[in-house]
Amino acid sequence: MARGKRKDPAPARHAPSKVWEGRLGTRTARGVEEYTSSLGFDLRLHAEDIEGSIAHARMLREVGLIGAGDLRAILSGLRAVGRELERGEFTVDPADEDIHAAVERRLHELIGPAAGRLHTGRSRNDQVATDLRLWCRRRTVDLMLGCAGLQEALLGRAAEHRATPLPGYTHTQRAQIVSLAHHLLAYVEMLQRDVERLGDGYRRCDVMPLGSGALAGTTLPIDRASTQRALGFAALSANSLDAVSDRDFAVELVSTCALLMVHLSRLAEEIVLWTTAEFGFAELPDTHATGSSLMPQKKNPDVLELARGRVGRVTGDLVALLTVLKGLPLAYNRDLQEDKEPLFDAVDTSLGTLGILADVVRRLVFDVAAMRRAASDPMLLATDVAEHLVARGMPFREAHALVGAAVRRCVAARRTLADMSVEEWRELSDRFDDEVVALFDVDAALRRRELPGGPGPRTVARALSRATAAVSRTRKLAAALAG
Ligand code: ARG
Repeated sequence: MARGKRKDPAPARHAPSKVWEGRLGTRTARGVEEYTSSLGFDLRLHAEDIEGSIAHARMLREVGLIGAGDLRAILSGLRAVGRELERGEFTVDPADEDIHAAVERRLHELIGPAAGRLHTGRSRNDQVATDLRLWCRRRTVDLMLGCAGLQEALLGRAAEHRATPLPGYTHTQRAQIVSLAHHLLAYVEMLQRDVERLGDGYRRCDVMPLGSGALAGTTLPIDRASTQRALGFAALSANSLDAVSDRDFAVELVSTCALLMVHLSRLAEEIVLWTTAEFGFAELPDTHATGSSLMPQKKNPDVLELARGRVGRVTGDLVALLTVLKGLPLAYNRDLQEDKEPLFDAVDTSLGTLGILADVVRRLVFDVAAMRRAASDPMLLATDVAEHLVARGMPFREAHALVGAAVRRCVAARRTLADMSVEEWRELSDRFDDEVVALFDVDAALRRRELPGGPGPRTVARALSRATAAVSRTRKLAAALAG
C-alpha cells in the first residue's frame, strides 16, 4: 500500500493509508501507530460500525448527497466487509488506527473511490459515540437476560426449599431462624435492582450522537431523524459538543456492573462458606469444583473465588473510566479512546460471572439435614422468648436482659434454652406461661414469621411468585428491546 509523501493527495485510486493523510507530509512513525491504535480492542465494535455506516449511507442518498450508484456500491461493499469481519477473514493493516478507519480502508479496496463518499457529514467522533451506544444497548439487554437467568436458577432452588430452616446470621454469628428460600430470595431482590438499574441506564444510552460531526455538526443537509429511525434510537442528542464527548452512559453501565459484581461476590462468598467442612451446608458439583495439585482430598471452589475476586477488576474498570473522563475539556479528546477496554472488560466479566454462577446455583447440592441441625440451635430463638414476654406485657429492654441472663446461665451450665422447664422460666418471671417451652420447634418458629418481607413459608411462597413474575417481565422487556 502506498504511504509516504504524495504529490497529489486528491482522489486516491487505492485506499488512503490514513483517513487524515492529506494533512501530514510524511508517514506516521511505527511507534506512534502502535501507541495510538485501538483496533486491537475496538474490532469488536464491527457489527455496530457497519450498521451505523449503512444507516448513514442510506440517509446520504435520501438527501441527495450521494448518487444511487454510489449507495449501491457502498452498501454491497459494507456488507462484504461485514461478512469478512464476522467470519474472522478480515485482514488488519498495521496502519489502521481503529475499526472505523479499517472498515473505510477495506471498503475503498473493495469498491474504489465511491468509498470516499461514505464519511460525508460524519466524523469518527460521532461515529464512535454512536457505535458505543449501539454496543451498550445490546450488552445491557444481554446483562438483563444474564441477571434473569441467575434469578431463575435461584428461584428454582428457592421453590424446592420454601420451608427448609436455615440459621440467619449477623456478624457471621448465628442470629435468628430463616429459610433457605428466604436466603436465596435475598439475592433475587439484589439482582432485580440491578435489572432495574440496567433498564434505567438503557433509556439514557438510547440517544443518537450521529450527526454531531467532529464537534459542531455539519453544513451539509443531512437528516438526523432518518438515521435515528434506522438505528432505532429513542432520541437525538441535543448538543453536538456534549454528544461526541459524553460517556456517561458507559459509566452508568460499568457502575451497574460493579454493583452487580459486588452482589455476585457476596453470593459466591456464601457458597464458599457453605461448602466448608465447618458449615457443611452445601457441596459443589464436581463439574464446578477444582482440585489441588498437592492435596489429594481437596475439592476447591476456585470458580466462586474468581467470581469474588473479579469484582476487583470491575471496580477498577469503573475507576479507570471515571478517571479518563475527569477534567476533559469539551469536546472530543483522544483520551476517550481509553473508555473501551474498561467498558468491555466490565461487561464481559459480569456476563461471564452471571452465567457461571447460575450453573453453580442450579447444581449445588444442599445438605438440608445439616441446615436443619444448625437451625435447630435453640439459641436462635432467644429473641422469640423475649418477644413471648413482650406479648405478655413486659417492656422489651427488660425482656432482653432477662433472657440474656438465662442464656448466660445456660451457657455456663452447658445447657440450652430448650432444656429449661416451664418452672425454671417462671422462676425468672411469672409472665412466662406453658407456651414458652413450645417456642423451640423450628418449623413453628418459621411459621411465626408471616409478615410482609419476612421468612414465613406462606410469605416466601408469595415472594416467590412475585419474583417469578418480575423475571418474566424482564424477559419480555429484553425481547422488546432486542427486537
Ligand atoms: N478510535 C477513536 C476512539 O475510540 C475514534 C475516534 C477518533 N477520533 C479522532 N479524532 N482521532 O475514540
